[in-house]
Amino acid sequence: MQNHIPYELKIVSDPAEVAQEAARRFVAQAQTAISQAGRFTVALSGGNTPRALHNLLVAEPYRSAVEWEKVFIFFGDERCVPPDHPDSNYGMARDTLLTKVPIPPEHIHRMKGEDDPTQAAAAYAEELQTFFGLASAGGPAPENYPGFDLVLLGMGPDGHTASLFPGTAALQERSHPVTANFVPKLNSHRLTLTAPAINRAAQVLFLVVGADKAAPLYQVLKGEYQPQVYPSQLIRPAQGHLTFLADTAAAANSGQ
Ligand code: 6PG
Repeated sequence: MQNHIPYELKIVSDPAEVAQEAARRFVAQAQTAISQAGRFTVALSGGNTPRALHNLLVAEPYRSAVEWEKVFIFFGDERCVPPDHPDSNYGMARDTLLTKVPIPPEHIHRMKGEDDPTQAAAAYAEELQTFFGLASAGGPAPENYPGFDLVLLGMGPDGHTASLFPGTAALQERSHPVTANFVPKLNSHRLTLTAPAINRAAQVLFLVVGADKAAPLYQVLKGEYQPQVYPSQLIRPAQGHLTFLADTAAAANSGQ
């Protein structure tokens, strides 16, 4: 990656092993955070890749390795649909994870995709401000952004992550942790954490699976720095640890 920011590229054999390694890391980071701070704050990713991770976390040996009552759930992005819509990221997490482990309902902070996008983004920023005890719901100062213990991310074939899509306004957002991003190619808004919000995380873990991610992953890691084209390049945690966990198909062009 340009400017030589440190990152880890962990390549494993196949999608099932990506899920296993992600589950191992999720549990380890949860145990560390809970032992150090008494809680684990994690922003879940949408899309399909996280399903396999969720399926592992709700079963042994991972289920009993996490003190779920000390876990606090957030979301990296959300489609502008109600929670029961098949496209809802919250809905996917609810069905595959949140209803299958004992996380207190009040610990689950979903983005309100059913609401007006601008209002929902502002409300979520305020919810983050309250939860993390921030001085304000944004602004230029890094300390006004949430410090998630872990942000899980995926990567689209176009190099997007969360709902930071190529050429969209959210890529420029540096004053708010959450924004309503109109995505022309989807002809819809998306709610998304912004780069400054994600970049305050202690750990950022990309799960990248499949041959259709080989080209974008190569560009993100090895290509020139052009985040307008490959928004995943915006993700460069200031103090946090950045990992790309990929199967051999996705890492075909990037592997060491
Ligand atoms: C979303 C996700 C998005 C996703 C990528 C990869 O709302 O769709 O947040 O950023 O992570 O599109 O999706 P897959 O895991 O389905 O390939």
